[in-house]
Amino acid sequence: MNKTFIIVFGPPGSGKGTQAKKLSDKLNLPLISTGDILRHEIKLGSPLGKKVEQIMARGSYVSDEIMGEIIEKRLRKADARAGAIFDGYPRTEAQQKFLVPKLKKLTGKEGKLVGVLVEVSDKEVKSRLGGRRACICGQVYHLKFNPPKVTSRCDDCGGKLYVRNDDKPEVIKERLKTYHEKTEPLLAFWSEEGMLIEVNGELPIAKVAQEIARKLKKML
Ligand code: AP5
Repeated sequence: MNKTFIIVFGPPGSGKGTQAKKLSDKLNLPLISTGDILRHEIKLGSPLGKKVEQIMARGSYVSDEIMGEIIEKRLRKADARAGAIFDGYPRTEAQQKFLVPKLKKLTGKEGKLVGVLVEVSDKEVKSRLGGRRACICGQVYHLKFNPPKVTSRCDDCGGKLYVRNDDKPEVIKERLKTYHEKTEPLLAFWSEEGMLIEVNGELPIAKVAQEIARKLKKML
């Protein structure tokens, strides 16, 4: 496969992380989840983690400068040479202007750069995030729609599952507002360039994955 970079877009709780992980496993490309990277820093108690903890707990975006440094560093790692799946980056106009030229340079004429939009209504987001359980390894579950085999334990690593502290109703409202204001407008670019596929994220997880695979096949 030629160099392939796929950016998964969608509102908070749309299932973009779930689908990005599936794509990463299927295409054997590294997953670059900025939310996971930031949560890892918070868990480590690093200076970066301390800087971003309150921002994330409020449901606001971390600065473009900090995010740019994280992405720059991550893209320099050898495993990203063949491509990558992005989950949660870019989220602002500035981030998009920073990332797209870099990826176009990396993909060259033969490679592929595709955006995937997982569409879900605000109503569905609110009902979904209440049942989410996460593992520090990056795996995500839902008590009803995607339960772990053993209660409160990750199927992959056995880690203890936790409730994210930004999954509170008032924070979810703020995250949705930020998404509609700052991230949704980015999609026009991908659509105009003919680089966007859109899928109904309200279908069951396996069906969403099938839809993405079917539409991606035509693009890759
Ligand atoms: P991040 O972790 O990326 O959070 P988010 O964008 O709000 O998205 P979520 O992770 O909440 O949801 P998701 O769409 O991935 O859904 P999931 O697959 O988990 O970022 C967190 C924070 O970090 C941001 O708010 C910001 O502060 C900061 N940040 C990160 N990147 C940044 C950037 N670039 N710039 C600035 N700040 C940044 O699924 C949700 C639930 O639904 C799960 O329980 C899942 O099992 C279930 N589910 C999934 N699909 C389905 C389905 N089809 N049917 C039923 N249930 C489903």
